[in-house]
Amino acid sequence: MAGIEISALTKEFPGGVQALNGLDLSIADGEFFALLGPSGCGKTTLLRTIAGLETPTSGSVRIGDRDVTRLPPGARNVAMVFQDYALFPHMTIEDNIAYPLKIRRQARETRLKHAHDVGSQLGLDGLMRRRPAELSGGQQQRVALARAVACHPSAFLFDEPLSNLDARLRLEARTFLKRLQRQLGVTTVFVTHDQAEALALADRIAVMEAGRIRQIGTPREVFGRPANTFVAGFIGSTPMNLLPGVVRDGAVLVAAQQLSVLDVPDGEVVVGVRPEYVAVTENGPLAGAVATVENLGTSSLVTVDVDGLSIGAVVPEDREVEPGTRVALNPTRVLVYRDGELVS
Ligand SMILES: Nc1ncnc2c1ncn2[C@@H]1O[C@H](COP(=O)(O)OP(=O)(O)OP(=O)(O)O)[C@@H](O)[C@H]1O
Ligand SMILES: [Mg+2]
Repeated sequence: MAGIEISALTKEFPGGVQALNGLDLSIADGEFFALLGPSGCGKTTLLRTIAGLETPTSGSVRIGDRDVTRLPPGARNVAMVFQDYALFPHMTIEDNIAYPLKIRRQARETRLKHAHDVGSQLGLDGLMRRRPAELSGGQQQRVALARAVACHPSAFLFDEPLSNLDARLRLEARTFLKRLQRQLGVTTVFVTHDQAEALALADRIAVMEAGRIRQIGTPREVFGRPANTFVAGFIGSTPMNLLPGVVRDGAVLVAAQQLSVLDVPDGEVVVGVRPEYVAVTENGPLAGAVATVENLGTSSLVTVDVDGLSIGAVVPEDREVEPGTRVALNPTRVLVYRDGELVS
């Protein structure tokens, strides 16, 4: 097992696409690490560079105590699981799982026994003689995982491995994956563009934008104190309110109303507050008319017009709020951004 160290990594594709732009990243041994970011930000490129499927333009990759930057994929001892699982369609499940061991020239009997052991751990008994097309999406995913587990890698690299599954299977698979990773204790890098998945699974998350890392932290840190307005807008199932504001003598004002007092220099700012932390009340510093109410299941997202600003608030399901009514808003846990960066 091994940690992963990435230093000053850049990758420029022909045609001048700068997919990775000087990345530094240190992933601990046994850590479950998520790479999160919008489409095209470089997640897959970073994963493929760790796996050795791409050669970096500059910078280095270390796995454990080895510099693997110039080593071919086969010499890195990492297992990559792709979005489409990349199973061999003409092979049985047992042969798919045993394939990496075949590459390592293990005897057929040894590798099939090992494949059956691992398959059994992943609930694949009874499916071992089928072919991939005869399995459900969730079962195929388990086969891809089993194949990855079978080679005892020092790291797992997952590129959106759950994205082909429907919502219910996806939740199941994610719990399963988390448990498996805990059991095996293998360093795992998990790519997703689904922030809820990253928050649920990861020990730490790196949020990427355009080939750069914008924040690294635990799910709690990244959710609770996004370091910049990009991360603030990206993380959270309902988007954070990012409101134009001003600080005067330490008082943080939005729509000319004081929300809190913080130790921040005076001037123009962006005030961030999660809809979950905006209470709809009788009395509050902000007031306005309810524009829309969206049902979120166990709660509703209420959008309120306050002096031309649109402010979201999450209210519990037992609270009836009608469009058109006037309400007051009381925001708590106020964050202040200046020039896009968190200042308080
Ligand atoms: N082989 C390639 N040749 C040229 N450009 C590439 C190549 N592979 C990726 N790119 C570009 O590099 C950038 C990063 O791509 P990458 O696939 O790493 O993004 P991603 O974060 O995985 O996105 P998604 O969430 O859509 O999978 C994109 O602008 C992409 O078009
Ligand atoms: Mg990708």
